[in-house]
Amino acid sequence: MNTILQINSSLHSAGGQSTRLADEFVSALRAKNPEAKLIVRDLAREPVPHLDADRFGAFVTGNEQRNQDQQAVVDYSDALIGELQRADVVVLGLPMYNFGVPSQLKAWIDHIARAGVTFRYTAKGPVGLLTGKKAYVFATRGGQYAGTPADSVTSYVRQLFAFLGITEVEFVYAENLAINEASKQKALLGAQNAIRRLMTQVRLAA
Ligand SMILES: Cc1cc2nc3c(=O)[nH]c(=O)nc-3n(C[C@H](O)[C@H](O)[C@H](O)COP(=O)(O)O)c2cc1C
Repeated sequence: MNTILQINSSLHSAGGQSTRLADEFVSALRAKNPEAKLIVRDLAREPVPHLDADRFGAFVTGNEQRNQDQQAVVDYSDALIGELQRADVVVLGLPMYNFGVPSQLKAWIDHIARAGVTFRYTAKGPVGLLTGKKAYVFATRGGQYAGTPADSVTSYVRQLFAFLGITEVEFVYAENLAINEASKQKALLGAQNAIRRLMTQVRLAA
């Protein structure tokens, strides 16, 4: 069964512009693939805790040595990773907040990037273990940054996905959302057109 994992990282949850674009894309995908299973991970509704020394300590403590609290931390991280492992397609709603990714998303990343689980170190460097997936990212911004040095969000997310083994990543941007109503409508229309173009190309894994 094909599986889509939709990760919403807007602090506005379902009301976020990035979430709405991700929703539109997922609806179109599901219309084309009614059998596809959908997992939605809303990071505003169910925030992932900030990574701290105790939580990281749990990750690096061996199976046999973990206490109950540490096991609970690892079980939680494993559950988040399990959603990713099951996904053929990852859809990410990605607002830019203060020139970075939402802290809610960073907390999730800090729980799913685990040595020996989602990547491993080899003599030739790190190797991602989440292969065979495709990611679609719906990036929303108040201003206009795509393609400029101020857009570190795109390179960071691409780098992170590649590190985990997800090398096929498509970005759809909606920028200038905060300038005025006309620029917002133009950007949203542009993103919707991009979604329609993508839908002529995408196919979930058989
Ligand atoms: C806390 C916060 C910080 C923001 N920082 C930026 C920024 O650095 N650059 C930018 O272009 N827009 C910024 N914006 C505007 C958002 O990127 C824009 O409103 C976008 O639509 C948010 O997506 P969302 O509706 O899915 O949350 C910021 C918005 C918020 C709430």
